[in-house]
Amino acid sequence: MTRSLIIALGADHGGVNLKNRLAAALADAGHQVLDFGTDGLASVDYPDFAHAVCNAVAGTEADYGILVCGTGIGMSISANRNPAIRCGLVHDVTTARLTRAHNNANVLALGARIIGEEVALDILNAFLTTAYEGGRHDRRLAKLNPEHAEP
Ligand code: RB5
Repeated sequence: MTRSLIIALGADHGGVNLKNRLAAALADAGHQVLDFGTDGLASVDYPDFAHAVCNAVAGTEADYGILVCGTGIGMSISANRNPAIRCGLVHDVTTARLTRAHNNANVLALGARIIGEEVALDILNAFLTTAYEGGRHDRRLAKLNPEHAEP
């Protein structure tokens, strides 16, 4: 994939199987995985896992975060409440590439009930191997939090 990274992973019961598959792929590729759970199919609340992963990314314990729930929507909404997080909800390789290149996303959200495992693995590879482009995007990212927007 790329240089060795520290990746924080989190999922609810709807995303746990895909999260475990991604963890195995990341470990096989030589990355360090910080797995914040969940570990089983018992019903849990996705924000608990989103916040744990995002705190690890915001605190620089992890380079990137990956969040999986049924749709990816709840995880992405939770993640983006953290002002240090830019989370992209991604369903294909193109948006995976562009959320890194244009949004400098530091967290990836996936919907395990929406995309297949092979697509998720391709997305993961695109996300981890695409660099942020900077330039004009710096100005836009600086305005992401409402207090920095122009009137
Ligand atoms: C859990 O049933 C489901 O709501 C959750 O996985 C996710 O899709 C929420 O956005």
